[in-house]
Amino acid sequence: MNKLYFSDFRTVFWKDGKVYIVDQNKLPLKLEFVTCTTYKDVAKAIRDMTVRGAPAIGAAAAYGLALAAFRSTSKSVEGLMKDLKKAYEELRNTRPTAINLFWALERVMNRARSVRGSIEEIKKAVLDEAKAIADEDVRANKTLGMIGAKLIDDGDVVLTHCNAGALATVGYGTALGVIRAAVEMGKRIRVIATETRPKLQGARLTVFELMKDGIPVTLITDNMVGYVMSKNMVNKVIVGADRILKDGHVINKIGTYTIAVLAKTHGIPFYVAAPTSSFDLTSSLEDVIIEERDPDEVRKIGNFYITLPDVPVLNPAFDVTPPEYVSAIITERGIVKPPYKESIAKLFSLQG
Ligand code: MRU
Repeated sequence: MNKLYFSDFRTVFWKDGKVYIVDQNKLPLKLEFVTCTTYKDVAKAIRDMTVRGAPAIGAAAAYGLALAAFRSTSKSVEGLMKDLKKAYEELRNTRPTAINLFWALERVMNRARSVRGSIEEIKKAVLDEAKAIADEDVRANKTLGMIGAKLIDDGDVVLTHCNAGALATVGYGTALGVIRAAVEMGKRIRVIATETRPKLQGARLTVFELMKDGIPVTLITDNMVGYVMSKNMVNKVIVGADRILKDGHVINKIGTYTIAVLAKTHGIPFYVAAPTSSFDLTSSLEDVIIEERDPDEVRKIGNFYITLPDVPVLNPAFDVTPPEYVSAIITERGIVKPPYKESIAKLFSLQG
C-alpha cells in the first residue's frame, strides 16, 4: 500500500534556532506552520490552541525552554537558570490539565540543573532534551500503534473522539496511531469521528488527518454516538488521554465519559491509547484541574454566535472517565487491563 501522508509528519520541530508548529486553528482550510522565536510565542501558541493535544503541547513547551535558553543574554550560569525558571513558570501556566506539559517542563529543567558546565553546555543540554522528548514521542506512538493494532480486527468500525492523531502529538498519533498501524498492517478499518464541540477537533483535525491518509471516515455530531452504537454501527472505541491516574481514571476531552458509558451499555470495547508520558502516578483525582475555557467557545461556532451573546454557559474542556468503563489502556510498554491499580503499578515498575 502507499505510504500514509501522516506516517512521518512532524507537528512541532526545531530548525535553525526557531520552533515551527502546525497552526491547528487554521486547519482544515490551511496547513501552515507558525514560527516561534521566543518562549512567549510558544506560550501563546499553547494558550490559544495553535498547538493542542497533550503530547504536542509537552514537546512544544520543551522547545519553548530551548528558545528561552538560546535567547538568554545572561553571562552567568545563575542568570541563565533564572531566565529558564521565568520561562518555565510562564509555560507551565498555559493550560492546566494535560500532564505531558508539566512532565516535559520538569524533564528539561532537571536536565539543565544536572549540567555542571558552561552556559553553552547548559543551552545545548536543554535543546538536546527537548529534541529527545520530541523524538521519543514519535517512537512511543509508533510502538503503541503496533501494539494496539492487535486489538483491531480487519473490517472494524472504530469510533474516536476529539483528535488524538499526529496533530495532537509530535507525530503519528495515539488513538489514530493505533488505527494508522492497523491500516499499515493491511487491515481494512473505517472510522467514525465525533465532531467534538466546542472546538471541533474531530470535525476539523481528525477528519483532515484521516482523509489525507485515505482512511475511510464518517463524521457525526457528538449527540449521535448513542444512535450509532444502538444500530451496531461501531465495534470499538479508541480515544487518547490528557492524563491517566495510577488507579486508571482517564482525563480526556469533554464528552469522553459519555462515550465510555454508552460503550459499556452496548458491550463495545472502550480503549485508551496513550504514551507513558501521559500518566500521572502522584496526583489524586481531587488534585486534577479541569480547564474551563472561554464561554464564547460554546456561544459561537467559528466567528458566529449561535445563541444569545450573554447566556451563561459551562465550558469544561475535559472530563473524567472512571476505570470501570475502560476496557484496556494501550501504551508503548504494553497493554494494561483492569484491575488498573495493579497493572499500572506493574507497568511502571518494569521501567528500565
Ligand atoms: O483541548 P485539546 O484539544 O488539547 O484536547 C486534546 C485531547 O483531549 C486529546 O484527546 C488528548 O490530548 C490526547 S492527544 C494524543
